[in-house]
Amino acid sequence: MRIRRVLTPVAAIAAAILVASTAAASSSTVGAGHFRPPADSLRALAAPIGLRIGTAVTPFELDNPAYTKITGDQFSSVTPGNEMKWQVVEPTQGTYDWSGGDRLVTFARQHDQLVRGHTLVWHNQLPNWLTTGVSNGTISNAQLRDLLHKHVTDEVTHFKGQIWQWDVANEFFTDSNPSMINPNDFWVSHLGAGILADVFRWAHQADPRALLFYNDYNIAGEDGSNAKSDAVLAWVKQQQAAGVPIDGIGDQGHLDTQFGFPTKMTSDLQRFADLGLKVAVTEADVRTFVNNPTEQVPTDHLALFAQPYEYAGMLQACLNVRQCISFTAWGFGDANSWIPGFFTGEGYATIYDVNLNPKPIYADLQADLILAARGAPHRPLR
Ligand code: XIL
Repeated sequence: MRIRRVLTPVAAIAAAILVASTAAASSSTVGAGHFRPPADSLRALAAPIGLRIGTAVTPFELDNPAYTKITGDQFSSVTPGNEMKWQVVEPTQGTYDWSGGDRLVTFARQHDQLVRGHTLVWHNQLPNWLTTGVSNGTISNAQLRDLLHKHVTDEVTHFKGQIWQWDVANEFFTDSNPSMINPNDFWVSHLGAGILADVFRWAHQADPRALLFYNDYNIAGEDGSNAKSDAVLAWVKQQQAAGVPIDGIGDQGHLDTQFGFPTKMTSDLQRFADLGLKVAVTEADVRTFVNNPTEQVPTDHLALFAQPYEYAGMLQACLNVRQCISFTAWGFGDANSWIPGFFTGEGYATIYDVNLNPKPIYADLQADLILAARGAPHRPLR
């Protein structure tokens, strides 16, 4: 189903500005340090305010020229979807495979993009040799701690100087009210909650210039109660008081139209920022129920409006907070999104449709970025 869009006043202003500014740079060129994105691209429109617009990328997608072109043209930051996770970088104990991450880092350099590293310690996507060794007792807790130390040090060292922000720790808090560091988490149950501070310290030692983030979902009011955000806020204050090198908080931003927009998002991001932290939206997508995973046509026609409303709302929350330094989409094409595989019956979660045509949200993001960068014209009284 396609819907025709009426040109809103905002879109009309955007169009006028774009017509004036695209003439000089309508095509992109790759060259060391000289990549010129189209002037109406998301990355170019966000550049005047210093905001990076990112996307998750899995390197096989870089084999597809249409995909590669959008990745380079539209985004000024990239995150590997899987290729820096422990399962991928050390599938066999002692044998590293950095090829996927290296490929993305090279692509980013060629396209003047910054890289978000994702992720150093998480309960998911761990190598089998590690989880099996822990469960059958051949890896003791002391050995597990040493293995984690080595993993963090080796990975951060390998990519030293190439990573702008590291998602150091991912998804450690419970979804309960009140929320807390999950005592049943793989790492916490074996090594205690204090392991998080150690991992931040190890990462900082290996690359003192990388920005170190704690990353999680539902920490900007998406849970309704704000319990998870409150818990992370209390925890990060303790870490700061203890001198743990933590620079930022990432809200993943995986929304679903059936739950409505989290209205506390701006104030939640702002209160992290008020602690002197950077903030970021790290994995934006907005899913909804669809006809099938191939076409991904929303089954409720109102979802065609709810999806861009909620997606743009996340960008607006980031725009509202000066310390929000990046807004990253968790992939940009519905055909490659993780959503249909993980949320049965859902899809339509990204910026481009299954044929890589921009959806209504694309124009909304452009318009919001233009307003953020240039402001609306001031009105005369008469
Ligand atoms: C997802 C990837 O997109 C999938 O390809 C993979 O099969 C599972 O992980 N939160 C995160 C991301 O922090 O690492 C997850 O990425 C999505 C949820």
